[in-house]
Amino acid sequence: MTNKKQVGLIFGGSSSEYEVSIISASNIYKAIDKDKFDVHPIWITNEGYLTSEEDSFKVLEDHGYTVAKGDKPANLANIAELANRPELDVLFPIVHGNLGEDGVLQGLFRLIDKPFVGVDVLAAAVTMDKEFTKILAETAGVPVAKWVSIKRYEYDDPDNEKLSYDWVAKKLGTTNLFVKPSNQGSSVGITHVVDDSNYADALAEAFKYDDKVLVEEGIVGTEVETAVLGNDHPIVSGVGQIINAKNTWYSYENKYSDDSTTTLQIPAKIPAETAEKVRQNALKIYQVTECSGMARIDSMLRESDGEVIFNELNSLPGFTSISMYPKLFEEAGIAYGDLITRLIDFAEERYAHKKTLLHKHD
Ligand SMILES: Nc1ncnc2c1ncn2[C@@H]1O[C@H](COP(=O)(O)OP(=O)(O)O)[C@@H](O)[C@H]1O
Ligand SMILES: [Mg+2]
Repeated sequence: MTNKKQVGLIFGGSSSEYEVSIISASNIYKAIDKDKFDVHPIWITNEGYLTSEEDSFKVLEDHGYTVAKGDKPANLANIAELANRPELDVLFPIVHGNLGEDGVLQGLFRLIDKPFVGVDVLAAAVTMDKEFTKILAETAGVPVAKWVSIKRYEYDDPDNEKLSYDWVAKKLGTTNLFVKPSNQGSSVGITHVVDDSNYADALAEAFKYDDKVLVEEGIVGTEVETAVLGNDHPIVSGVGQIINAKNTWYSYENKYSDDSTTTLQIPAKIPAETAEKVRQNALKIYQVTECSGMARIDSMLRESDGEVIFNELNSLPGFTSISMYPKLFEEAGIAYGDLITRLIDFAEERYAHKKTLLHKHD
C-alpha cells in the first residue's frame, strides 16, 4: 500500500486549446512532487475519446501521439467513466474551454464526489460568460469596458438597432470596437472593428460560437494579467504584461502561432501603484465571482487616464511551465512543482469543508 495521493490528471478535450492542454499536463506530470503523488493521466482526445492510461502516458511523452478511434462514440460523455475509478483521490482537470472550464466537468466531479483542482461549478459557469463576469465586476466597483450585448433573437431581427455599426459606436462613444462571443476563449470568434465595413461579418463570426455576442468599447493601452491562488484567503501574484506589436492585439495567432509577435513581460513595466491597483481589483473580482483554487485575471491599463479596466477572468489558465499563471507565482517565490501541490491541497481543503455542510434539516 502506498500513502501517496492518487491524482487523476485530466487533459485534452475538444476545444481549440487542446494542444496547450497536453503541454500543460505533460509539464505538470514532470514537475509534480513524486514523493507525495502518483499521477494517473486521463487523456480526452480532440474527437472526445477517453483513452486508456497507457495511451495517456504515451501522449504526455510524445505530444503528436494519436490513437485509433476504436468503437466509442466521439462524445465527451465518456468522461463519466471516471465514476468507476475509486482509486483516484483527487482530480486535476487541465481541460480548457467549453465543457472543461464552464462548470460542466466540475458538475461531474461533484456528482462522483471527488475533490478537484480549480474553481467550483458556480464560479466556472459564471466566469465562462464574459457578460456575467463584467456585471459582477461592476458590482464590486471594478471598471470594465462599456459594452452592448446582443442575444440571438435580437441578431435574427434585421430591424434591431444593435445591428447598426453607427448606433453601437454612438452608444459606446467610440468607433474602436471589439466583437466577441460571450462564452469562448483563445480569442476565437473575436474581431477588431474600426469602421462599418466588417461589422456585419464580425457579428456573423461571433454568432458561430455563441448565442450571445458582446460588442465592447476598444480600450487603448497596456494589457496586463495577474494570478490568484487559494480559497477563503487567496493570495495575488505580481503583474505580468502582454506586449503586442504595434497595432495588433492578442489574437489567436499571437497566442499560439510560431510567428507570433507577442511576448510576455514579468514583472510588467508599470508604476508600482498601478500594479497594486491591478492586484486589488483582481482580488475583488476573484471574491465577487466566488472563485476558489485558482484564476488568472486580465485587465487593460487605459493609456488616456491610467485607469485599470478589467477584461476577463480565466478559471483554467494556460498551465505550461512557461505560461503566465505559473510564471507569475514563480516570480513570487512559489516554484511550479510547489504550486501544483498547493492547488491539490486547496482542492482537498474545499472538499473537506463542503462535507461539513448539512444538506437537510438537522
Ligand atoms: N475591449 C477591448 N479593448 C481592447 N482590446 C481588447 C478588448 N477586448 C478584447 N481585446 C483584445 O482581444 C484579446 C482577446 O479577448 P478576450 O476578451 O481576452 O477573449 P479570450 O477569452 O478569447 O481571451 C485580448 O487579450 C485583447 O488583446
Ligand atoms: Mg483573454
